[in-house]
Amino acid sequence: MFALAASNLSKKFDQLTAVDQVSFEVKKGEIFGFLGPNGAGKTTTINMLTGLARPSSGKMEIAGQTVGSSMKRVQHLLGIVPDESNLYDELSGYDNLCFCASLYGMAKKERQTRAKELLDQFGLADAANRKFKAYSKGMKRKLTIAAGIIHNPEILFLDEPTTGIDVASARQIRQLITTLNQHGTTIFLTTHYIEEAERLCHRIAFIVAGKIVRCGPVEQLMSDVQDQQIMELSIEHCAPDLPRQLMALCPDSQAELTGEGVIRLYSPVPLPLAEIFSVIEKSKNELLEAKRIRPSLEEVFVRVTGIEKEKMSGNNMGRRKKQ
Ligand SMILES: Nc1ncnc2c1ncn2[C@@H]1O[C@H](COP(=O)(O)OP(=O)(O)OP(=O)(O)O)[C@@H](O)[C@H]1O
Ligand SMILES: [Mg+2]
Repeated sequence: MFALAASNLSKKFDQLTAVDQVSFEVKKGEIFGFLGPNGAGKTTTINMLTGLARPSSGKMEIAGQTVGSSMKRVQHLLGIVPDESNLYDELSGYDNLCFCASLYGMAKKERQTRAKELLDQFGLADAANRKFKAYSKGMKRKLTIAAGIIHNPEILFLDEPTTGIDVASARQIRQLITTLNQHGTTIFLTTHYIEEAERLCHRIAFIVAGKIVRCGPVEQLMSDVQDQQIMELSIEHCAPDLPRQLMALCPDSQAELTGEGVIRLYSPVPLPLAEIFSVIEKSKNELLEAKRIRPSLEEVFVRVTGIEKEKMSGNNMGRRKKQ
């Protein structure tokens, strides 16, 4: 049974096709991730699925019902956590939650109980009476998620749930997402963090320039790189042409400098270690450390999309694109 299904869904803004014939299904009870760079069409897709934007073409099904221009019949099943908070600055955390609950027609007593329960669950009880505008970024994000689940939705949309917040808060939010999912909530999330998608999601769609370029369970996506051998060498006084010399040892290999004196070797076949060490020794470079790296989803993503990890998080420094 699908919680969500999109079939050839497209959205055009004048000349720009922001979402281009995407088709995918989200199974009931899973965490499904849209992973893609800025401008890929992630938010636009969420907006269509939640009734905030009208598709230019295509079909959508939510909880077994085909939805068209009106989302009314399914709206109560959906929880939406936008990338930028939609809560009120001048209201306290508690009042914001009570207000959201009232929009879903919850009775006063029920709203108050639910608001308190969520503030506790999200570690915000001490800040319950503080104005939203006085919350830190991480607290704001947590309260926005709390507001999105106030009515116990079956399907929760989270747009970039951990972008722009510190590591500890991001980890707490990921834990909350996992717990919600374990209690039965189906989750559709977008992210441009590859590790986050790998850690949280059961299935992932890579979206680039409005198109889904790969979609599948994490293990299946990983099988694309299972044959890949990766070795990281830390070298003192690394000669500039050492990567080239190492590549010459192994046909079809790639070598790249990933940091000062750190070379990564990628190869589809086992690397000739003895020869590698001998070349390094002969060229008077000193090998400090050699370690085998387990291929990660990053390798799959780079291989499929040609987009480097650093480009995903807006940092263009670092590893060069593999040819
Ligand atoms: N209302 C709009 N009018 C015109 N163009 C838009 C509108 N909304 C989005 N776009 C364009 O559609 C494309 C996809 O935008 P979208 O916000 O869906 O990307 P995204 O994947 O969510 O990116 P980000 O990671 O930056 O949030 C972009 O080129 C964007 O400029
Ligand atoms: Mg977005």
